[in-house]
Amino acid sequence: MIYYKTLAEVELMRQSALLVSKTLAEVANILKPGITSASLDTFIGDFIKDHGGIPSFLNYNGYPFNSCISVNDVVVHGFPNKNELREGDVVSIDIGVVKNGYHGDHAYTFVLGEISDEAARLVCVTKESLYKGIEKAIAGNYVGDISYAIQEHTEKKYGYGVVRELVGHGLGRSLHEDPQVPNYGKRGSGKKMKEGLVLAIEPMINLGSKDVYTDEDGWTVRTKDHKISVHFEHDVHVQKNKPDILSDYSIIEAAEKENPNLFLAHQATVGA
Ligand code: MF3
Ligand code: CO
Repeated sequence: MIYYKTLAEVELMRQSALLVSKTLAEVANILKPGITSASLDTFIGDFIKDHGGIPSFLNYNGYPFNSCISVNDVVVHGFPNKNELREGDVVSIDIGVVKNGYHGDHAYTFVLGEISDEAARLVCVTKESLYKGIEKAIAGNYVGDISYAIQEHTEKKYGYGVVRELVGHGLGRSLHEDPQVPNYGKRGSGKKMKEGLVLAIEPMINLGSKDVYTDEDGWTVRTKDHKISVHFEHDVHVQKNKPDILSDYSIIEAAEKENPNLFLAHQATVGA
């Protein structure tokens, strides 16, 4: 069942989404080779609690950390750990908070130091595909229009692998609400969107094959071919004329630009 939000609820959800954005921007300030994802996870939990939120992933279906930190061939749901991050790592950080009863849930992929043009292009194109999907998140369009736009830009245009097992979702009082938002599908399929729908749109795109498997820990999702995977996620409020993005990448991107340890994938010579 889909829960449509009132404008007052949407404003509360914007606060939750922005707390995630601010947390990601703080992470962007401190990311550097040598830091461990476990220390980032502690920082993330403290920052959320200091700002009146609760990390929503912690204990969700038994998930044991505040955040998901997914490095290189890890697609999503990576466990923060004691390994030091290294130059050349592609690091997706996914964070959820609940504040005033509503969830924010979004993700950003950072690149530490230099990576290959091929990897940089994947980062850049995955982020572009998120916005291509978001453009379709307008009342009167279908959820499948979002799915199709993402798949076209990634699989069709660049031959990347679009993960099938994991999808975007509705967001609200629960972290996962209806409808599911696959990153693949047909135009005009699925639910017709109405005003007040709030979606977490989250392309998970592999450089190689779309195939993934889950580690013995029951969570960590990896690419079968161990090539890298990239994940970006925004929280989007569906309205009449244009999508309303509740989360905010601009503060994350500003922090990313200021941090000399981070490589700006979109500035690489990645061609098309
Ligand atoms: N953004 C992810 C999702 O929507 C994060 C969930 S991680 C979990 O599924 F730990 F909460 F499951
Ligand atoms: Co999500």
